[in-house]
Amino acid sequence: MTNVSPIEWKGDHLLLLDQRQLPHTEVFIKQAAIEDVWNSIAALAVRGAPAIGIAAAYGLVLWSQQFQSESPSTFKTELTKQRNYLASARPTAVNLFWAIDRVLRAGLTETSVVKMKEAIRNEAVTIHREDELICQRIGEHGLKLLKDGDTILTHCNAGGIATTKYGTALAPLHLAKEKGLSISAIATETRPVLQGARLTAWELERAGIDVTLITDSMAAHVLKTRKIAAVIVGADRIVENGDTANKIGTLGLAHLAKAYNVPFFIAAPLSTIDYSIASGEDIPIEERSSEEITHWQGERVAASNINVFNPAFDVTPNELIEGIITEHGIIRSPYKENLEHLTYQPNY
Ligand code: MRU
Repeated sequence: MTNVSPIEWKGDHLLLLDQRQLPHTEVFIKQAAIEDVWNSIAALAVRGAPAIGIAAAYGLVLWSQQFQSESPSTFKTELTKQRNYLASARPTAVNLFWAIDRVLRAGLTETSVVKMKEAIRNEAVTIHREDELICQRIGEHGLKLLKDGDTILTHCNAGGIATTKYGTALAPLHLAKEKGLSISAIATETRPVLQGARLTAWELERAGIDVTLITDSMAAHVLKTRKIAAVIVGADRIVENGDTANKIGTLGLAHLAKAYNVPFFIAAPLSTIDYSIASGEDIPIEERSSEEITHWQGERVAASNINVFNPAFDVTPNELIEGIITEHGIIRSPYKENLEHLTYQPNY
């Protein structure tokens, strides 16, 4: 395993592994206030859909611990405002909204401020604890698709540091390692923020899993010329019909996988499914700063006076997805029918 806990709750503050500093330095940043958490999410210090949700849940705990008044109605009004504040940190990963709404509901059902604070803390800790088991189950289901010696191709980082442990797309690899099997990965570097080069390659190497780094533009050549058992990626939001938003570049990989007859899988917990949206066209896609593309380590590398378009995610249509690996097993088409009966089970 990665043997890094990317998120640690310390009772009165939160420690987050600063993913911006990887792979060079393993630094934990102290989060003492809700604003710290908002900034860490927006700046990608913590990133990856499940990790964003867990961090945000603790953000509400930090706020509640500093709340002074004993008025339940003021607490409830402010709690809702703070929920909305955290919701504004990033728009695409639905796990953010799922986690803070779960914490909000837990708080709102109580009547005294003391009880509300306790319920909020307990819910955040529960969300955090459940994530490890959920990812382990995703890994077990994903591993059924693979055999010893296989190689998968993955994009971005859907690994242990994007969750609590194991990850989603990388969970089968971490579990395979624990079971003494050898499954290798090809990791795309993932422009523009390089989650593949900085995070996935670091995480897998650190776990003793064979990993080969390629640039995003090499994917077609690799899928055509190498024996790749599957493409497995994570997800930021899966909607009712199975359309899936994930890191920019995923859509291209899904088309390539189809062209070269390589099965394309999404691995994600049920908390990533947004049943309120019917099709992928309605998923909000985050656009990030142009400097992620025009600059490299603070220095401009692109020509000046140009237009830049920097969507952080794209949407893969359900027909390109061979299956969605969840904690409840592998869900296949027709997605609308097969996803609608699945509900997240609290207290895994
Ligand atoms: O912008 P990021 O780094 O937060 O994007 C992350 C991804 O797209 C991941 O693939 C996704 O969140 C799944 S993480 C288990």
